[in-house]
Amino acid sequence: MRGGGVSVVAALAVALLQFLAAVTPSAAANVTYDHRALVIDGKRRLLISGSIHYPRSTPQMWPDLIQKSKDGGLDVIETYVFWDLHEPARNQYDFEGRKDIVKFVKLVGKAGLFVHLRIGPYVCAEWNYGGFPLWLHFIPGIELRSDNEPFKAEMQRFTKKIVDLMKKENLYASQGGPIILSQIENEYGNIQSDYGPRAKPYIEWAAAMATSLNTGVPWVMCQQADAPDPIINTCNGFYCDQFTPNSNSKPKMWTENWTGWYLSFGGPLPYRPVEDIAFAVARFFQRGGTFQNYYMYHGGTNFGRSTGGPFIATSYDYDAPLDEYGQISQPKWGHLKDLHKAIKRCEEAMLEMDPTITYLGPNVEASVYKTGSGLCSAFLANLDNKADTTVTFNGHSYPLPAWSVSILPDCKNVALNTAKINSVATIPRFVRKSSVAALSGWSWIKEPVGISSNKAFPKVGLLEQINTTADKSDYLWYSLRGEMKADEPFFKNGSQTLLHVESLGHALHVFINGRLAGSGKGSSNSAKVAVVVPVNLVPGKNNIDLLSLTVGLQNYGGHFDLSGAGITGPVQLKDKKSGLSIDLSSQRWTYQVGLKGEELGFFNGDKFSPRTSQSTLPKNQPLIWYKATFDAPGGDTPLAIDFRGMGKGEAWVNGQSIGRYWPKYAAPSTGCTDTCDYRGAYSATKCLKNCGQPSQIYYHVPRSWLRPKGNVVVLFEEAGGDPTKISFVTREVGGVAEESLAVEDSCS
Ligand code: GAL
Repeated sequence: MRGGGVSVVAALAVALLQFLAAVTPSAAANVTYDHRALVIDGKRRLLISGSIHYPRSTPQMWPDLIQKSKDGGLDVIETYVFWDLHEPARNQYDFEGRKDIVKFVKLVGKAGLFVHLRIGPYVCAEWNYGGFPLWLHFIPGIELRSDNEPFKAEMQRFTKKIVDLMKKENLYASQGGPIILSQIENEYGNIQSDYGPRAKPYIEWAAAMATSLNTGVPWVMCQQADAPDPIINTCNGFYCDQFTPNSNSKPKMWTENWTGWYLSFGGPLPYRPVEDIAFAVARFFQRGGTFQNYYMYHGGTNFGRSTGGPFIATSYDYDAPLDEYGQISQPKWGHLKDLHKAIKRCEEAMLEMDPTITYLGPNVEASVYKTGSGLCSAFLANLDNKADTTVTFNGHSYPLPAWSVSILPDCKNVALNTAKINSVATIPRFVRKSSVAALSGWSWIKEPVGISSNKAFPKVGLLEQINTTADKSDYLWYSLRGEMKADEPFFKNGSQTLLHVESLGHALHVFINGRLAGSGKGSSNSAKVAVVVPVNLVPGKNNIDLLSLTVGLQNYGGHFDLSGAGITGPVQLKDKKSGLSIDLSSQRWTYQVGLKGEELGFFNGDKFSPRTSQSTLPKNQPLIWYKATFDAPGGDTPLAIDFRGMGKGEAWVNGQSIGRYWPKYAAPSTGCTDTCDYRGAYSATKCLKNCGQPSQIYYHVPRSWLRPKGNVVVLFEEAGGDPTKISFVTREVGGVAEESLAVEDSCS
């Protein structure tokens, strides 16, 4: 009895201690900065950071992504805050599910990593409208990102909302939480000349407003050479070794080191060799940098209609060290991990001083950090993009491949050369296995051509699309009903009637008398669409129905929010033979925002009734909603749907949008290279693959969105496709030999 009592007391004591450990916040840390570095509790820190945007994955994926980041040698996770997600309607907030930013920040803290919270609230990020909620645009008198009272009031309110939320949860380092840094605005310096005299006062106001929120941690502005004190101006780019902050009391920080580049529908797949990334990082630290962030460390997926653009693809893989599916991408992840270890071995010497830079030959640069106490670390760089060389340093000889840096933590032994990779490459593949559940039993509903909603409205002339839809939908119908007399020249013998439509973008389908007569699309270079389609008009009533659509709203540039979309004209009927032309632009058009199926919520799958009357599944026909049910494919390997066979549209799994699909939009056939020489300055168009191929055929289906049985997939197909051709695939990165037995059809 006694013994039992003691053990109960002991167990209670242990439980109490565990409870206290869980609820007691870690010690508050004081974060400041000086000329060399961020200073945490009086100690300068050399920090390696990586971007993971929480809504581009699922909460179920977050712990693993964070752990893999930590294992890769990161100290900090950086994320933007996405205003449009959190405040979809003014004053109505949402922080649930993938939007649970508090949970994300806490998980990073729990893993022992720091957070850089880039509030923006303009974020760019290839995100719809740069992260701005559309309702902002409709506030009378507003000018976004400018010294404009209505805008400033909204920006301040949202920034404060986020800061208060973080404070309430004790998430700032000053409160014992993981957030050591915050960003206000984003790369405004790149475009501020477009805002004339209202730019400078805006930036001064933004700096003062952020500072006044008393987060207890420093603020940064990226690409903002004139960032007012105490805000630290930071660098973004493929290289930042030449960057210097605007004051000697600020450290040299790199907030975006692009690990690859983003994919656009209709574009090839960009990639960046890891030798070049490692070279850029080593160069930055060689030249006195002390904080570096990979944009992206995990890119993830643009679910729903969240992509910016126009034409940003659903995959935001970015060629990041962790791939879209959260798997380690080798040799990128491993080589950067080795690099981080080598740099960290130099940390103590580096943080004490600026480097002493000398030249050991043409294009060969040595930086030495040598302290009074006898520490010495060195970086030796060969900047030549062709010629390897051998240099003598401190009496020893060092081979240096072209475009590489050797890191010598003790000024003698090479810990790493950026061009020499020790990690073994994995080749990710999408694999179709017999064990993977099939999609079958398709049912369907036709989306009506033209006006079907009683919310449609007439208007004389052509309306700009974004002002009309407020981005509630990708789709806007422009419809015209007209009477044509039999004696019109369009019906004369040998006449050939053409419809000419000009639109600001981003894509367009032309229906004449209920039938698809032609389509057009812009590209990421120019969103504009001009189509000339032969049309068959009939004497009597004719219907012209133009379906105009957006594919992600612009996210970058001066006044990007005003770029506009939709059919702004002219719309003309032309007779090829007689040259006669009728301008329809100023007719009385009828408008419908969105689709009937969107209004009725077809994407949830519950409005479909089994088709019995029409036994043949419609294939390659425009405007069809399709639905199938399936059991969850076994295992826990990441899943995707191979969309080959379909045209363009959006897909939902159990009511959640996995994004826009567009497997038919292929990259141009030229501009790619079979191999990419990492030597020499990188640019977003230097290393491209997939030319002539569809930009994206695989679309991520997060495992956590599935239940074991009775899952529902819904597709809305615009242009025409065959849903029986689509299938589940798993994303495999394991050893080739081990996989090959299970593979039925491997399609990488
Ligand atoms: C930067 C911007 C990021 C992202 C990046 C390209 O200019 O700050 O948000 O858009 O370009 O991926």
